[in-house]
Amino acid sequence: MIRGKASATIRQPATTVFSFIVDDFLTNYPRWSPEVQSLRPLSEGGLRVGFVAEQTRVDQGRRSTSTFRVTACDRDCRLHIAGISQPFQLSFELEADGSSTKINFAFELLKVDFFMRPFEKLIRVAVEDGARGVVTNLARLLEAQVQLPAPPQPLLAPVQTPPPPRQTMDFLASKDDGLIPFVLSQILDTCVNGVTLSDPDQPDSPIVYANSAFERISGYPRSEIIGRNCRFLQGSDRDQPELDEIRAALKEDQGIEVTLRNYRKSGQMFLNRLSIRPLIDRKGRLIYYLGVQYDVTTQLGASAEIDRLRIQLGDGRR
Ligand SMILES: Cc1cc2nc3c(=O)[nH]c(=O)nc-3n(C[C@H](O)[C@H](O)[C@H](O)COP(=O)(O)O)c2cc1C
Repeated sequence: MIRGKASATIRQPATTVFSFIVDDFLTNYPRWSPEVQSLRPLSEGGLRVGFVAEQTRVDQGRRSTSTFRVTACDRDCRLHIAGISQPFQLSFELEADGSSTKINFAFELLKVDFFMRPFEKLIRVAVEDGARGVVTNLARLLEAQVQLPAPPQPLLAPVQTPPPPRQTMDFLASKDDGLIPFVLSQILDTCVNGVTLSDPDQPDSPIVYANSAFERISGYPRSEIIGRNCRFLQGSDRDQPELDEIRAALKEDQGIEVTLRNYRKSGQMFLNRLSIRPLIDRKGRLIYYLGVQYDVTTQLGASAEIDRLRIQLGDGRR
């Protein structure tokens, strides 16, 4: 399960905040979550336990339609929603404090598809960002209401609000068939370079993702790559000074570029131009190391041959 939580205190009484979130949900949800293009109630009446609606969203250019149900709704207190067609739940809990209200928002992704697991940390970051985005937008909208009340809008009208530009994702649920990593992995599979992600939070920093080119270069199938430290490509050829450079760089969370002797599954040696970069999240925490592998055997072989011929040519002239 992946959870994103965020809170904000808003200078509005709980009644106003609840009314904005719940009574005017069909109007206001697309305002705090601008990816929502249309929202259609599938139940009669306003929001209450059992209320079902369908949303169509455009996330990262991809349109998707999903349904959800209200699972708890207590006036001035809380609203809980659960996905029907997607495994998620979210909650708004309100804490009244005089004329202010603290909104506690939580989003939970209940299941990550098996093939998405390598990207779990990226999804976690997106969920955390999404939760912050919801609360930030709500605070902005509700605070703006103090100065300038929003014009009345018809309750249950189809939503046509043009989405304002934003950088973070809100309800990841509707796209949590793992669209972004799924598309990303297809893009990475078209790369000619090997691309790997290793997870420094796991014992011995195993590879959690490898693209098709890495399989091709190394000769190992993904099932024999994932879960192992990349050093297995060195075989018993461990006396390489460049390894000290890698160790020193990783110790300092720094990037590095070196050329290593590596061995394919067939035992054939190849020269691996390896670039390692730390990947950090918005809070500056290291989440993965990215490795880009480039088989330079032919290039280095050719340039060695050119050097040899140059020397010969130079010798010939003398
Ligand atoms: C993301 C990443 C990718 C790596 N890719 C390779 C690789 O393709 N070939 C290799 O020999 N070492 C690779 N390494 C380096 C080894 O995993 C390891 O860091 C290196 O052997 C030095 O550490 P050690 O002394 O624990 O073996 C990679 C490291 C990282 C973090």
